[in-house]
Amino acid sequence: MVKVDVKYTKLFINNEWVDAVSKKTFATINPQDETVITQVAEGDKADVDLAVSAARKAFHRYSPWRTMDASRRGLLLLKLADLLEAQARYLAELETLDCGKPVKNAEEEVYFSASVLRYYAGKADKILGNTIPADGEVFSMTIKEPVGVCAQIIPWNYPIPMLAWKIAPALAAGCTVIVKPAEQTPLTALAVAALIKEAGFPPGVVNIVPGYGPTAGAALTHHPDVDKVAFTGSTEVGKLILGASSLVNLKRTSLELGGKSPLVIFNDADVEKAAQIAHAAAFANGGQCCCAGTRTYVQSGIYDQFILKAGEIAQKRSVGNPFDDVQQGPQIDKEMYTKVLDYIKAGKSEGAKCMAGGDKLGDKGFYIKPTVFADVKDDMKIAREEIFGPVQSILKFDTFDEVVDRANDTNYGLGAGVITNDITTALSFAKHVRAGSVWINTYDHVTSQTPFGGFKESGLGRELGEEGINQYLEIKTVTMALPNKPQL
Ligand code: NAI
Ligand code: MG
Repeated sequence: MVKVDVKYTKLFINNEWVDAVSKKTFATINPQDETVITQVAEGDKADVDLAVSAARKAFHRYSPWRTMDASRRGLLLLKLADLLEAQARYLAELETLDCGKPVKNAEEEVYFSASVLRYYAGKADKILGNTIPADGEVFSMTIKEPVGVCAQIIPWNYPIPMLAWKIAPALAAGCTVIVKPAEQTPLTALAVAALIKEAGFPPGVVNIVPGYGPTAGAALTHHPDVDKVAFTGSTEVGKLILGASSLVNLKRTSLELGGKSPLVIFNDADVEKAAQIAHAAAFANGGQCCCAGTRTYVQSGIYDQFILKAGEIAQKRSVGNPFDDVQQGPQIDKEMYTKVLDYIKAGKSEGAKCMAGGDKLGDKGFYIKPTVFADVKDDMKIAREEIFGPVQSILKFDTFDEVVDRANDTNYGLGAGVITNDITTALSFAKHVRAGSVWINTYDHVTSQTPFGGFKESGLGRELGEEGINQYLEIKTVTMALPNKPQL
């Protein structure tokens, strides 16, 4: 077992490390063997109150943060990106310990996170308003201002990227934040907090409060002095958060939720290449990915060949100790492990054909064999519900219109993919599918520059790209009387 030094386990409020007011702690678990890694301070309402008041103070109109040049905010983000990269290996190992993802993927994610910080660093001093030819004898303009104190609640599947997606646009915009990491993976957010302090962000600008959802999370979403909440996680909790916003103070709310994304493969595709893309779409991060392409629709002409190939690739997928050179580690926790195994049982009992896997792997830790089901029907549970584990469902189709209807027959709308060499088919699919991201002849290509988010119950608002920063800005219209003919 690789030894990773855990340096930070307290709450990070106002640039200080503090115990929870209650003095309570909770255990964070290693998903490889279910051992306790360490105890972490457990934030709750009293701690959230302290963090919100620190963030509010840091947002005061004469505070160091509010009076700082916008370009300087950008420089601080650039510095943070450098610090992240300098510690990429350490952060990756800490992540692997806490969430079980292969260390090489965790390391790539640190570099991706740095790219997100840099993208928004460049935006900090390019937040422009308009001048407007308004009716009347006036001069009108818009100013884009930071929304204020932001609560950011993040999940465990990509802890460092989720942190970067949230804080980078908020800080570039000039907001202050309180981040609640997922209870399964609090460690890397705290390690990044130390780098935030080192980079030179003033106290109170970023606060990190680990804890559970119904306690620390709900205290944030119900807090009357929080101006905005940004959330990534389940649709179920997303609805609770939107409800809390509407009950309390109409917090601006952005949600990035679940999915059941279709990937559609037409007869003209190269079967080997298509099967590889579909495999990565379904199994990346052990299937614990909100935009995972879990419904693989394959046209009837290549269907029989495709399902054999998909099964073969899944059987070869290497699963094991995530500190070794493997493609997949354990699932995040016992709850998800049990939930995924129940879906696998449901797939079998509803009559899908198991082409690979279909079971847990070993007796220690939360390992599951990469599982492929063929002959899946649209009304089976495994075709309708988000599994969030290493399970691919393959469905057969005949025509374009049929598959577009079936792809859209879901409450979700996060990602979608199409594999074909026919440009009209590809762009027609992109036009008619109801999803926030559509990939053609690739999948899951997410970048700092391109907006990401969901249609329907997959979310509200977009992250990344230009749209990502708009979620953290209010528009103020300033209108001044200006006579057409001044008496000068
Ligand atoms: P979750 O939605 O319960 O947790 C995500 C975050 O929300 C965590 O930080 C959690 O502490 C917090 N939270 C939970 N309840 C809350 C509440 N009442 N108020 C405020 N914050 C709250 O997701 P969970 O339980 O980890 O996974 C359940 C399912 O959600 C998964 O099976 C998967 O389908 C989906 N999911 C989707 C993700 C995505 O990237 N869109 C990420 C994680 C899970
Ligand atoms: Mg939950």
